[in-house]
Amino acid sequence: MIDVQDLTKQYAGRVAVDHISFRVEPGEIVGFLGPNGAGKSTTMRILSGFMPPTSGRAMVAGHDVFRDSLNVRRKVGYMPENAPLYTDMKVKEYLHFRGELKGLRGRDLRVRTGEAMDLCAITDVRRRLIGNLSKGYKQRVALADALIHRPPLLILDEPTNGLDPTQIRHVRELLRSLRPAHTILLSTHILSEVELTCDRVIMLHHGRIRASDTPRNLARQLRATSLVRLELQGDGRISEKLEALPGVRKVIVEKPDGAWQCYSLRVESQNDIREAILDVATASRWKIRELHRQLPTLEDVFVELAASEEGKKR
Ligand SMILES: Nc1ncnc2c1ncn2[C@@H]1O[C@H](COP(=O)(O)OP(=O)(O)O)[C@@H](O)[C@H]1O
Ligand SMILES: [Mg+2]
Repeated sequence: MIDVQDLTKQYAGRVAVDHISFRVEPGEIVGFLGPNGAGKSTTMRILSGFMPPTSGRAMVAGHDVFRDSLNVRRKVGYMPENAPLYTDMKVKEYLHFRGELKGLRGRDLRVRTGEAMDLCAITDVRRRLIGNLSKGYKQRVALADALIHRPPLLILDEPTNGLDPTQIRHVRELLRSLRPAHTILLSTHILSEVELTCDRVIMLHHGRIRASDTPRNLARQLRATSLVRLELQGDGRISEKLEALPGVRKVIVEKPDGAWQCYSLRVESQNDIREAILDVATASRWKIRELHRQLPTLEDVFVELAASEEGKKR
């Protein structure tokens, strides 16, 4: 459904998307995950046919986004970030207007407007002015707009942004209900969101793909390690001694808290090395104030990915 090869976008010399390649198969729900500025919106705008790439190629539903953007727009339901809605129009009136722009007429237009409003649970506000609706309702109007012409591919930029947990759940259920007939690419900066909604996650950072896998595999990768935090006073090759412990992959020296030295240890999670640390501490006459172990979350992985990327740049 989507085939992207070596796609790059520069804005005034600044690289927003940096030679990315990926595919999305029909029927998949794929989540674009990345911190602000990662290049998610830029990629989505290109794939929806609203902006040309600087270089590279992207095929969407069998059409080249650059040469054939009109057909691409017909096949794609695009919900932009902070979707601009006509605030002085009523909901149903607006969807009629949008449906017409997408080539719907007569009975078809009426049926699909009703259908889209039902799907997005906005039928009860159909006569209200968009400007007076809550953020949650506005998002759902934008979603109804994206799917009114029953496009095979939905590209949704932060569809749950600004929604409360109940509304997020509703959108999640809605997206799942669309699954067999639609392929969905959605972006979010919320990790738990992709974990619950998506078949596959593509992690973007600084315009590059940093990881691409099922949420389950990403989580498994993560949970292969745990984090141990340690605060101590003492001297003599502390990092070295910690690094020598079995299962320790990495020792991160943190900012000291007064006289207390702080360390984070990335450890293979089969090993609970707290006892080993205490043994070394006793032998080396270190004074320990804190020692605790935590299993990493997707968020930790993400922060670590970002940090290692920063490290490479310097
Ligand atoms: N219209 C634009 N002009 C110049 N720079 C832009 C423009 N849009 C985005 N950028 C820059 O491109 C990078 C990627 O932005 P964006 O695609 O919006 O990321 P995301 O959606 O992941 O937050 C950022 O550094 C952003 O500042
Ligand atoms: Mg964005």
